[in-house]
Amino acid sequence: MTHNKLLFWYETHGRHELPWRNTDDVYHVYVSEIMLQQTQVKRVMEEYYPQFLERFPTLESLSRADEADVLAAWSGLGYYSRARNLHATAKLCPQTLPQSYHELLKLPGIGSYTASAICSFAYNQQVGVVDTNIERVLKRFFALAFVGGKELHKEAANFVHEHFPRAHNLALMDLGSLICLPTNPKCQECPLFFACKGKDAPELYTKKEKKVYENMELFYGICEKNEQIALLQSSSRMYKGMLELPSVEPIEEDFLAAFKHSYTKYRLTVKLYKIEEVHGEVVWVAHDALQNAAISSLTKKALALYEKNTQGKQLG
Ligand code: ADE
Repeated sequence: MTHNKLLFWYETHGRHELPWRNTDDVYHVYVSEIMLQQTQVKRVMEEYYPQFLERFPTLESLSRADEADVLAAWSGLGYYSRARNLHATAKLCPQTLPQSYHELLKLPGIGSYTASAICSFAYNQQVGVVDTNIERVLKRFFALAFVGGKELHKEAANFVHEHFPRAHNLALMDLGSLICLPTNPKCQECPLFFACKGKDAPELYTKKEKKVYENMELFYGICEKNEQIALLQSSSRMYKGMLELPSVEPIEEDFLAAFKHSYTKYRLTVKLYKIEEVHGEVVWVAHDALQNAAISSLTKKALALYEKNTQGKQLG
């Protein structure tokens, strides 16, 4: 009864239009799951997923690519280790990805969520999938306020539909994102309301994590020669393989512009300064090549602001 109601609801209300649900190509499913880990569905669907697959249509093409090109295709998405791991996995498995959950887990950047999502969404295997939406649905439905980790995975695995595991997991995911919301869940519209053990106190099953933000100021130098901008290979682990503006000591009279930027837990104030020289191994990038460079959103924003300011000056 529960399963039938869930599947019927998914049939009529599910997000079937999402492109990674209309394929059983394991590589496409894999790329989508990695992109969706820290990025909203709309952004992935409109700005990154189709473009990335056009650039690297197969695991094999990705395996042969230069890391700089993979990072360039990821430019602006953040969490660049995702792209480096995707590339490393393609090099290890250029033909296809393994079908076994445990084999998938051995690959770079594939944790238990991604391994189970691949097994379910690409291979239609009878595995439970637990992302944050599904976790909330399961906790409420089975009244499991204090259950997490392995136990919850067991619940998910026991609950999964014997014959339609893929649709079952996608249905739970959509139920979590459309109906069983963290606050003010739409219980009246829920196909599982009749059997939900958590319906009288849905707030019990929503953990409220208070985000702690850290404020920070960053100072970058802009050096332009022959209509090219000086960039350096990033020395930080997080941005490995990416190009960035050189860091500088701020000198007030060289100040150009400032902007705010958020990244993970940081609330940044970024200040830009005109500089005449850059030390280290400089990569000179022409303005029209910046779109295809491996640069972060922060660097993109900084360069756009710089261009806007200098254009204004040229016009004035
Ligand atoms: N469909 C399959 N996996 C998904 C995900 N991670 N987020 C949203 N929709 C999905």
